[in-house]
Amino acid sequence: MLAGKRLLLIIGGGIAAYKALDLIRQARRAGATVTPALTRAAEEFVTPLSASALAAEKVYRDLFDLTDEAEMGHIELSRSADLVVVAPATADLMGKMAAGLANDLASTLLMATDTPVMIAPAMNVRMWEHPATQRNLAILRGDGVTVIGPDAGEMACGEFGPGRLSAPEAILAAIEAHFAEGPLTGRHVLVTSGPTHEPIDPVRYIANRSSGAQGTAIAAALRDLGARVSFVTGPADVAPPSGVNVHRVETADQMLHAVEAALPADAAVFAAAVADWRVVDAARSKIKKDGSGALPSLSFAENPDILATVSQGTARPSLVVGFAAETDDVIAHATAKRARKGCDWILANDVSPSTGIMGGSENAVTLISEAGAEEWPRMGKEAVAARLAARIAEALA
Ligand code: CTP
Repeated sequence: MLAGKRLLLIIGGGIAAYKALDLIRQARRAGATVTPALTRAAEEFVTPLSASALAAEKVYRDLFDLTDEAEMGHIELSRSADLVVVAPATADLMGKMAAGLANDLASTLLMATDTPVMIAPAMNVRMWEHPATQRNLAILRGDGVTVIGPDAGEMACGEFGPGRLSAPEAILAAIEAHFAEGPLTGRHVLVTSGPTHEPIDPVRYIANRSSGAQGTAIAAALRDLGARVSFVTGPADVAPPSGVNVHRVETADQMLHAVEAALPADAAVFAAAVADWRVVDAARSKIKKDGSGALPSLSFAENPDILATVSQGTARPSLVVGFAAETDDVIAHATAKRARKGCDWILANDVSPSTGIMGGSENAVTLISEAGAEEWPRMGKEAVAARLAARIAEALA
C-alpha cells in the first residue's frame, strides 16, 4: 500500500515518542521507507539507535552535523520524502512550525520542505486546550498541514481529555489515505456532521438526536476515493473517520467559523444537524432554583444558516450538497429548501419517528437536483455515502 513511498518521520520529545517506534515498524511493513529525525528532547524518551534499527536507515539528529551535511544536506533531506510526518508533534514543535522558526534540525526541515506535512499532536490536555496551541493549530491547518488526532483518554500525566497521540494504526491509515489514488485525488471536500450543542448555562445545553453516522460515512467514502477531506463535526456519538482533517466544534456559530476557515473546497456536503436557534445570553454560571417555584424562561436567536451562507458566499465550492430532514411532504419541502438555500443538490430524507432513520443505521433518501427528484432505495448509511461520493466524483470530473 505504501510501496515505494518515502516518509520523513520527525519524532518530537514527548512521552508518546515510544509509539513513533511502532509507527516506523508498521509503516515499513506497509512498504514505506522511513527516515527518522529526532529532536533533542525526543532523545530523552527514545534512543536514536532504536529508531535507526527499526527503520534500517540512518537517523538524523543535528542541524550542524558536518558528516550529514556532506552526505545529504538538510534541505535535500526535507525534500526527498513524499510525506513529512511529525509524531508526536509537541506543543513546542507546533509553535515553532506556526511561527516559522528554524532553530534546530526538526524545525529547519519543516521550514525547508516543499512536501506535504502531517502532524500527530500529543501533549498534556491543558497544553492542548491552551489558546496558544489552538491558535497554532488553526494556523497550521490554514497552511495545509494535515492534523491527525489527538485522541481523548487517560493520559500518562494522570489527567483525562484530548491530548493522547493517535494510535500508530490510525496514523498509518491517515498516511495510506494521503497516498490513496482515486477519482477524487487532488480534490478538497468539506463535510459537516453531527449535532450542535447550544449552551443554556455551563452545564446545560440544547441538542438533537443526530448521531453523526451519515456525515462520518460520507467523509470516509470521499477519503476512500482519494479526496482530501475537511471534517467539521459537532459532538457526535460516532468517532470521526481516520485519514481526514477533523475540526471539532460545539455550537452552530463555531461550525460556521470552522467551515469558513476550511474553504476553499471543490465540493461541500452539509450533513450536520445544526440547531436552528441558540439561547440568547447563555448564563455564565449554573441557573439555580430560587425556591419560589418560578420557572426560568429562555429567549432564542436564530443561528446562522451555514449551508445557505456558503452556497451564497464568494468562496462557494463548485458543488454544494445539503440534506433535508423532513417529516411530511418530503419532496416538496426539500425542493423548496434547495431553491431557498441555493445549493446544487439536496439529499432529502424522511425522519418521522416511524422510519427509524434518525440515529439508526439505514437511510432512505431522494436526491433532488436541477434535473428533478431521484429516489434511492433504502440502504445502509455507508451505502448511501458510497453512492453520494461516487456521484460527487462524477460531477467534479
Ligand atoms: N443547515 C445549516 N445550518 C443551519 C441549519 C441547517 O448548514 N443553521 C444545513 C443542514 O446541514 C442541512 C440543511 O441545512 O444540510 C437542511 O437542514 P434542515 O434541518 O433540514 O433544514 P432547516 O434549514 O433547519 O429548515 P427547517 O428546520 O425549517 O426544515
